[in-house]
Amino acid sequence: MPKPKLKRVGVLTGGGDCPGLNAAIRAIVKRGKQLGFKIIGIRDGWKGLVERVDFEKLNENRVRGILDRGGTILGSSRTNPLKIENGIKKIIDNFKKLKLDALIAIGGDDTLGVAKKLPKNFPIVGIPKTVDNDLKGTDFCIGFWTAVQTATEAIDRLHSTAESHHRVMVLEVMGRHFGWIAVYAGLAGGADYILIPETPIDIEKVCQTIRERTRKGKSFSIIVVSEGAKLKGKLVSKTGQADAFGHLQLGGIGDQVADLIKEKTGFETRATNIGHILRGGTPVAFDRILGTRFGVKAIEQVSKKQFQRAVILKGDKILSVPFSKIKGGRKIDPEVYRVASIFFH
Ligand code: F6P
Repeated sequence: MPKPKLKRVGVLTGGGDCPGLNAAIRAIVKRGKQLGFKIIGIRDGWKGLVERVDFEKLNENRVRGILDRGGTILGSSRTNPLKIENGIKKIIDNFKKLKLDALIAIGGDDTLGVAKKLPKNFPIVGIPKTVDNDLKGTDFCIGFWTAVQTATEAIDRLHSTAESHHRVMVLEVMGRHFGWIAVYAGLAGGADYILIPETPIDIEKVCQTIRERTRKGKSFSIIVVSEGAKLKGKLVSKTGQADAFGHLQLGGIGDQVADLIKEKTGFETRATNIGHILRGGTPVAFDRILGTRFGVKAIEQVSKKQFQRAVILKGDKILSVPFSKIKGGRKIDPEVYRVASIFFH
């Protein structure tokens, strides 16, 4: 008797990379093998199904030793099939060409947004990831907690140099239009002020806080600012360029805030932008566990033929919801920001 043919499941990682993606890929491959699937890794996100057919077969050997590795072994891109002529058709054609039976897309709002535009009978499952943690529908996304840890360590390091030189240090962190990373890292690192996109910057209040700290004998201050925080309602971008999804490349608000603080208070001030360091490095335990649990759930969804859904974290449970329930635009919980602001003095 010929053995039944293994079902082929594609997996791709799209958008900005983050720590914890490899844990998800590893889990899909290992659990997939137990369930009788062959896993096909699509390289560089949607690019590997649209601009060219680029893939590799994933087996247990290929995913050995990747649990603690940052980034994604599959590569990523910000390729937007919706901006490419016949992009969706190309995905469907290449999916068929690769003889795939299902697809698992690991990504943020952009990558999963493309998944939502596929026909309603397309066999796809989504896994949410983004350091920004700005997806509605899941408590946390893969990558967020490692980014928070890295930013917290940066704040810790800034503390000692700020104290030695009696300076104001401004740290700019990623997060796009939401202050998740800034608030969580600022809380963990004991920031003296946190500026986020959800709340207009009141530079006078920031300077007042710094002056009061000095009066109380604290000769230094740490200010954390999220890249999407706005001065007079304006986003700051050094390049002015947008990516394929139309997102403006943010960056530079930290410098502007530092200049204003220096001008208004006269205190020596320095700005640091942690930039993409935030997205690199080894994932913290939480992201390894979340990636693994999401990966297992996603491939089990495939085996149950429950498609057009994304896996999510609610409390301590991994569940799945229809794609429509997962979307961008999730603001930081004002209660968490309120708690962080108790320490702005
Ligand atoms: O969406 C994740 C993110 O890291 C944002 O925080 C940041 O604004 C953006 O990606 C940077 O994008 P890129 O890697 O394309 O420079």
